[in-house]
Amino acid sequence: MPTALRDRNVCYALPRMATEATRRQFLGGIATASALAASPAKARAAEEAEARWQTVRKQFPFREERVPMNAANLCPSPESVARTVTELTRSIDVDCSFQNRARYATDREAARTLVAAQVGAEADEIALVRNTSEANNIINNGLDLETGDEVVIWDQNHPTNNVAWAVRARRRGFTVRSVTVPAQPNDPDDLIQPFLRALTPRTRVLSLTHASNISGILLPVRELCMIAHRSGIHVHVDGAQTWGALQVDLHDLGCDSYAASAHKWFCGPKEVGLLYTRSERIRDIWPNTVAPGWGATADTDLVGARKFESMGQRDDAALTALGEAAKFHASIGTAHVEARVRELASQLKQSLHAIGANLVTPMADGLSAGVCIVNVPSEKRQALFEAMYDEFGIAGSTAGGFRLCPHVYNTREHVERAARGLDAHRSLWS
Ligand SMILES: Cc1ncc(COP(=O)(O)O)c(C=O)c1O
Repeated sequence: MPTALRDRNVCYALPRMATEATRRQFLGGIATASALAASPAKARAAEEAEARWQTVRKQFPFREERVPMNAANLCPSPESVARTVTELTRSIDVDCSFQNRARYATDREAARTLVAAQVGAEADEIALVRNTSEANNIINNGLDLETGDEVVIWDQNHPTNNVAWAVRARRRGFTVRSVTVPAQPNDPDDLIQPFLRALTPRTRVLSLTHASNISGILLPVRELCMIAHRSGIHVHVDGAQTWGALQVDLHDLGCDSYAASAHKWFCGPKEVGLLYTRSERIRDIWPNTVAPGWGATADTDLVGARKFESMGQRDDAALTALGEAAKFHASIGTAHVEARVRELASQLKQSLHAIGANLVTPMADGLSAGVCIVNVPSEKRQALFEAMYDEFGIAGSTAGGFRLCPHVYNTREHVERAARGLDAHRSLWS
């Protein structure tokens, strides 16, 4: 039975039970697949598109022998961001006066405004914190919860949005209910129903992950927000795997708070993170750290969500360079970034399916984003991870299986190479 392999507008077929020869032909030819299968005009357009992505790849300093494909964990920054961090750090060391540092505050506000516009929020709703971990903890520590209250979480949440709730619950006496969803959902409703069943009249918070780092499942967060808001439930979303990968519009998504890291898909400076809090919710959340800006009566001069980012001396250079990362995304266009992330993820998943690999991540676009995970027995993961790096120059991760997350700096050749590596090491996963 033919399996349809979709490459942009081109649809071509590969036998489901691919022979060794067809599999190798497929893996070897995927970069030029459109050229083989489409009209000359379409092939030329595909080549031109790939050439345009090459100009994006060239903005990143990594070597072809060491290709990053682990955006879920850490991304390289383009040269423009790296250079800005270096230059601004140097400038502080040359002159660390208040006079010189004053401009960093102005530039940081400009960065906040750019980032806010890109994620569909107001600048006053954005706190520039250190990472997703800290942003998640500001929410699970900052909401007033007590005995009798319930918090519903997804069991696939990161520890900072999972174990952290359990730790707060021990201190405050509220209850945490953990939800499991089907491993291979067929449609968004399969992901909504388990949460619906867990909500009770005592539920005060629903704390989710937009896209899981250990399965790649993309939750229908917008629908879940609408359901939860009917009962006045605060919805927190860990967006570590969506900011910089998908086009995120937070007002449209409807969540009350959203956490993310600039050093992941946003390709921004390291140890800079984002905490969005819907304007109406800001006053109900306590800050984790109280630093200059607060008075003894707990009133603050810090406007809006800035009250969450006051932590004493910060890395002004990194915070300011966030604006360069926003400009990098704007130069491509966030819609094009998402399209490329989805195109490469789809290429990868189809290639892995063709070699017979069992995917943890759903094949359907609507149920996943850029995180792609192959099912690999836990005792073999490390060997596969090392072999892919040493022999094929592909830096992946052992999270949830063998995880690969291609991003805009990757090419179709990188994805093809990753699939070839997995094919060569099938004894480690089949
Ligand atoms: C879903 C999710 N949340 C939070 C984190 C923590 O990110 P950070 O270390 O940048 O705080 C990660 C890291 O991989 C993650 O995947």
